Order: sequence, then structure tokens, then C-alpha cells
Amino acid sequence: MPGGIVGYVLGTADTARFAGRFREEWLPLVADKYPLVASGAGGRPANPDERMADNLHHPERMVIPALAPWPAHLHIDILPAYQRRGLGRQLIAAFLAALREAGVPAVHLGMATANVKARAFYDRVGFEVIDVPGASADATYLGLRL
Ligand SMILES: CC(C)(COP(=O)(O)OP(=O)(O)OC[C@H]1O[C@@H](n2cnc3c(N)ncnc32)[C@H](O)[C@@H]1OP(=O)(O)O)[C@@H](O)C(=O)NCCC(=O)NCCS
Repeated sequence: MPGGIVGYVLGTADTARFAGRFREEWLPLVADKYPLVASGAGGRPANPDERMADNLHHPERMVIPALAPWPAHLHIDILPAYQRRGLGRQLIAAFLAALREAGVPAVHLGMATANVKARAFYDRVGFEVIDVPGASADATYLGLRL
């Protein structure tokens, strides 16, 4: 770890505002480099690159009405060799402290339901399930009030 990066937490205090700025400010800079290509049946994305491009071109998908009471959202990842050493808990604590300082009332995240290890982690650090009507069973949404 000395001198290297082994993980990150990142997110936004205001998902709706973030999606708006993503559309207005960021997408125009990268849209040509990562064009919207959907070569699958019915005009759907056919592979991971196409799915990523599809998400890139539809930032509004981040804004889910049922999640509005949890306006912030986050992502966290740590390299396998550095997991289960308390780093995830430290990163989450730092991120939540910054949100509290900014006066944000609550934070959410979306995760693959199959990721039972991550779910065990989020349970330990205080997240609870949010019911999102109409969501795919493959996705789980969790939230924490600050
Ligand atoms: C999920 C992840 C961020 C957790 O970070 P971490 O540094 O491994 O977790 P920590 O060591 O800080 O653990 C914090 C608590 O969660 C618990 N925990 C973490 N991983 C766990 C697991 N796989 N099973 C059970 N409990 C777990 C720890 O026991 C600890 O509890 P305690 O402090 O009460 O003893 C990290 O493992 C990771 O990046 N995983 C792969 C990527 C991923 O799934 N990211 C999330 C996508 S939604």
C-alpha cells in the first residue's frame, strides 16, 4: 500500500444534480469517443462495452424517484488483497462524515443482489434495504440516514 492506491470511495451529495451536470457538462466531452452502439436484438446493447456506453448516454437512469429521500449516492471498491482489513469501513466513514458536514440527509447505493459479500459489508456499516417498486430482482438498493 505505501505509495500505491488500493481502493476508492466516490459519490455525489445530490444524485439528481449530478445527473443533470453529467448530461450538460461531461457527456458532450466524451460522447464522440464512446458512441451509443446497440448491436443486440431489438436495438439492445450486446456486450459490456455497449452497456457501459448505453449508461454513459443515459445519466438520468441514476435518478430513481423512490430514492429521492436518499439524495446522495456512492460507489466503493478495494483491491482483493486489501479487503477485510478495515479499509472499507474507514473509507465509508470518511465519505459519510463529508456528507454530514455538507448537510446531506441520507445516502443510497445500488448493488448486484448476487454480491453477498458486499451486502454483508453494507449491513455491518449500517445500510438498510430500500424498497424500489419495479426494480429488477438483480439489483438491491440500500440506504443510510445521516
Ligand atoms: C465490499 C468492500 C468495499 C468492503 O471493504 P473491506 O475493506 O473489505 O471491509 P472492512 O474490512 O472495512 O469490513 C467492515 C465490516 O464489514 C464486514 N465485512 C466485510 N466484508 C465482509 C464479508 N465478505 N463477509 C462478511 N462480513 C464482511 C467486516 O467483518 C467488518 O465488520 P466489523 O468491523 O464489524 O468486524 C470490499 O470488500 C470490496 O471492494 N469488495 C469488492 C468490490 C465490491 O463488491 N464493491 C461493492 C460494490 S456494490
